[in-house]
Amino acid sequence: MKFELIERPLKEIGADVELIFVVNKDLEHKFIKDKCEFEFYGFKGEGVLFLQSQKRLYVGIANTEVDTIRQGAAKAYNALKDYEVSSLKVASYITKCAKFSTQALVEGFILASYKFDKYKKEKKQSKLESVLISSESFDENTLEIEKAKIGITNGQIMANATNFAKDIVNEIPEVYTPLKFEQDALELAKSDKNIKCKVYDEKFLQKESMNAFLAVNRASVHPPRLIHLSYTPKDAKKRIVFVGKGLTYDSGGLSLKPADYMLTMKADKSGGAAVMAIIKAASELGLKLEIHSIIGATENMIGGNAYKPDDVLISRAGVSIEVRNTDAEGRLVLADCLSFAQDLKPDILIDLATLTGACVVGLGEYTTGVMGNSSELKESFRHKSKLSGELNSELEFNDYLKELIKSQIADVSNAASSRYGGAITAGLFLDKFIKDEYKDSWLHLDIAGPAYVEKPWGYNQAGASGAGVRACLYFLNSIGKDK
Ligand code: BES
Ligand code: ZN
Ligand code: ZN
Repeated sequence: MKFELIERPLKEIGADVELIFVVNKDLEHKFIKDKCEFEFYGFKGEGVLFLQSQKRLYVGIANTEVDTIRQGAAKAYNALKDYEVSSLKVASYITKCAKFSTQALVEGFILASYKFDKYKKEKKQSKLESVLISSESFDENTLEIEKAKIGITNGQIMANATNFAKDIVNEIPEVYTPLKFEQDALELAKSDKNIKCKVYDEKFLQKESMNAFLAVNRASVHPPRLIHLSYTPKDAKKRIVFVGKGLTYDSGGLSLKPADYMLTMKADKSGGAAVMAIIKAASELGLKLEIHSIIGATENMIGGNAYKPDDVLISRAGVSIEVRNTDAEGRLVLADCLSFAQDLKPDILIDLATLTGACVVGLGEYTTGVMGNSSELKESFRHKSKLSGELNSELEFNDYLKELIKSQIADVSNAASSRYGGAITAGLFLDKFIKDEYKDSWLHLDIAGPAYVEKPWGYNQAGASGAGVRACLYFLNSIGKDK
């Protein structure tokens, strides 16, 4: 799909169809022309009405907030995808900022256009090829052309990166193994000269005493990989290190998951997919930030050599871990990866992980849990990622919950003694592996809910959503400008 900003009023632009957003059921707006048809079809400004002979598509939206525009664009895409419509024109709908409104419009189309149909014989090809955005505005706001153009570029990069992550997450576990993670990372570095990739195998993990990570991998026929992607522009202002949980399959291990819960666990690599997509987009955006993405890639399987509940593991950081549940494997992989990541001396350290079912219970399927020790960093992340449209909520640490991960025989237990507060106790476990000097620079994002939802929601399809990708990119884009 191509996007173009055209400095002409709508009526002077030629296209197969005109898209008109009906804002807050206001049917009196100058863009609206087909009131007779509205009456006939019972259209009151909500939902979608496509008048084929008039070549106009009306999409009702409640307001012109950035994410509403994104949702509206996705609705428009979905309404047209089965028609022979190859070009669409639309006015500018600006709330405060031309850049973000235009960016959201572009993102809505690209996010909605995603499909994962490689295993289907019948593939539906959408005809929509170009979206022409007029400089004419819905209201008195004048479109700042240059800013809107940046919005178009950024929207394409960020939405395509989101779709890139979805492809990784949706791929089946038979195909998407740690070695496939390695292959994709190497390919990314090959196709983008600004991204470097180092891959470490089990020998390196042994040498580094990453015994928590190795234990999780032990019963898998697929070897583990620690993948380190880096983007190091010359004039970088800050160094941001991302760590992604890359469980290409989580069966639960010997603490085996019940059948119903095991289904969808191909999505346990969503954190790894997200950090790969983030660095790809960061480079394409040319951000003046040094970015590193670390992926801990392994399966969690069963077998005669599987690690066991009752085992004690000595992690890379030297912290001993009592294994009380082999299904709490993500925190074990992350413990060693976070330790490795801190050697890079990050200004900001962010991990993304489908870490706990408890986070989904607490916040619902659509919301990421934001944890960490610094209120300032949590607030700043939540504020600066807001326009991405991704939902998140803070889950505050407290000392009472810290008691629950104490172990009788080791420094920490990998499973809390109570189910209650499971997302936070998992976060507190990770905190054990954060050195004092990085306590306030670390954020933990539990994306277990939104990373993979089995039904469509908003501009997301059933399956992977690329959770965390846009939130982190909006955050990075914003701190890139800080002094
Ligand atoms: N990958 C799961 C968490 C998960 C659950 C992600 C649902 C997405 C959807 C994780 O490894 C896990 O199994 N966590 C356990 C921890 C428990 C054993 C302490 C959980 O949440 O039940
Ligand atoms: Zn698990
Ligand atoms: Zn897991």
